[in-house]
Amino acid sequence: MAGSDDVVAEKGGERASDVIKTVMVVIAMQAEALPLVETLQLVEDEQATIFPKGAPWKKYSGDLDALNVHVVIPGKDKSLGVDSVGTVPASLLTYAAGVALQPDLIINAGTAGGFQAKGANIGDVYIATEFANHDRRIPIPVFDKYGVGTMEAIPAGKLIKDLKLKEGKLSTGNSLDMTLQDEEHIKANDATVKDMEGAALAYVADLLAIPLISLKAVTDIVDGNKPTVEEFLENMSMAASALSRTVPLVLKYVSGKSVADL
Ligand code: ADE
Repeated sequence: MAGSDDVVAEKGGERASDVIKTVMVVIAMQAEALPLVETLQLVEDEQATIFPKGAPWKKYSGDLDALNVHVVIPGKDKSLGVDSVGTVPASLLTYAAGVALQPDLIINAGTAGGFQAKGANIGDVYIATEFANHDRRIPIPVFDKYGVGTMEAIPAGKLIKDLKLKEGKLSTGNSLDMTLQDEEHIKANDATVKDMEGAALAYVADLLAIPLISLKAVTDIVDGNKPTVEEFLENMSMAASALSRTVPLVLKYVSGKSVADL
């Protein structure tokens, strides 16, 4: 009804509401997702008919007060058995689950490398203010900009302030390590945190016209002295715990609010 508080538009005969009632949380690694699934007491949808038959993708669902919550993960690579990290599985999963579940908000939760020169510390949880890619180098006019694919995040100043989260720009690439060329592009992107999915999800969320919040827990300091792999593995479970504490706080915060209130 026109004039009603939570009804903002009519689409295809259906009333669209801007009040956040359904949230889809996309997490690349199972070990990052399971503590959250446990905390929220979500239940695995064993059939998961919304996914293609045979896909390793998983969906866990439940309610947090009045909020409908789905956690989706790309699962284990079918031949190698490791988590399907990176932009391709995350994009496909987000697209398929986003179309099927029609969430009011997508949250991408995961780990990231942080730059101490930009103030990042191990265990910090960042909200991304901007997304860009650092490994899509196309040195042809305009394609160069397309490659970087900078996208602004939705404003979430109140959420960041009220939950005392850190904020910073996120740069995405399909590698855990960082080549000199990556470093150059990450610096050009002015990034504080570096991950392997964020900018891809920003692209998919924009395509589906669903708002996205990206929450990244820092496992390793990219411009520090420790080797990335060692530091990442050492801090993985601590980061998963940080996410399983922070994501429910964010879910409670957004529940019943509109995106414009964040
Ligand atoms: N996830 C955690 N640490 C990372 C890093 N250094 N680069 C990309 N993704 C990460």
